[in-house]
Amino acid sequence: MVWMVIHGIIASAIGIAAGLAIHWFPEQASTQAGPIDHLYDVLIFVSVPVFVTVMIIVLFSVRNFRMRPGEENLDGPPIHGNTRLEVIWTAIPAVILVVLCSYAWVVLNDIEEAQANEMRINVTGQQFAWTFEYPQAGGKPIKSSQLYLPKDRPVRFYVKALDVIHDFWVPAFRLKIDAVPGIETKYRVTPNRLGTYPVVCAELCGLGHSVMRSTTHVVTPARFNAWLAEQKAPAAATAGGAPDAKKLFTDGNGTATACGSCHTLADAGTSSQTGPDLDKTLAGKDAAFVEKSIVDADAEIAPGFEAGIMPKNYGDTLSPEELKALVKYLGEVAGK
Ligand code: CUA
Repeated sequence: MVWMVIHGIIASAIGIAAGLAIHWFPEQASTQAGPIDHLYDVLIFVSVPVFVTVMIIVLFSVRNFRMRPGEENLDGPPIHGNTRLEVIWTAIPAVILVVLCSYAWVVLNDIEEAQANEMRINVTGQQFAWTFEYPQAGGKPIKSSQLYLPKDRPVRFYVKALDVIHDFWVPAFRLKIDAVPGIETKYRVTPNRLGTYPVVCAELCGLGHSVMRSTTHVVTPARFNAWLAEQKAPAAATAGGAPDAKKLFTDGNGTATACGSCHTLADAGTSSQTGPDLDKTLAGKDAAFVEKSIVDADAEIAPGFEAGIMPKNYGDTLSPEELKALVKYLGEVAGK
């Protein structure tokens, strides 16, 4: 008995030390991340001894109560329970659970508390891209495929989905929530560290699930305002009325996802590997091929890529003029 307790304490100490020494998560980039990581550490601290206790009892039982030669047909002595033991093994886990749940509830309540000066951002998931919409007082909302956030400004995300269930996740913030067709889900975050962090879809949503990613840019408030002002500049249309194809390619038009968020094109300065490298696949192709590649990408799939990943709605989300301008632009610059 004594040696079991001693071994148990040593094993628990090693397990806890290892559990706390390992950095399980990416860097913390929100005020919510600290309390969540601390909660996780507490859970490790409590659950390792539970695991060790269970394993010791299992090993002890296997060693002492195993079947020995000649006992194949015996059924063991009849046991009719042990009230004291049952009370103990019900009460202790119940107390542990109540304490941990209360603590987790306090943490959740704390990180979800409403903040003054919250900025609203609408997040829309669709196969297979994220769109971030910044409502503007008295004007059209600004839409972007990249998530820009000013440092230290509380944000509340309003999340929805257009087709199937997605899940909006920024691991560096530690928070995620399902994007569900037909309902609006929400969560709060206060970014507190400058830098860029991945946005991930955390719900299997189809063939392109693994590429349904974007980037969070936590920037200074001044930089954020400059970015907003840039977005307000008339999108993709020059004074003459002809759409600016290069801008369309890199920024999208608010409805159509930017080509450049998935494709490499030297002329536009984009380098994503999610979709085919257009400098290779579109070089020297005629306008009809380029247009088909945009509106019906699955008609011909570049080697090494799969059908069903590129959005199929470019025929609707691009105006005829924009589509024409993009086709012309890509025909001119791809592979140059
Ligand atoms: Cu969207 Cu997975």
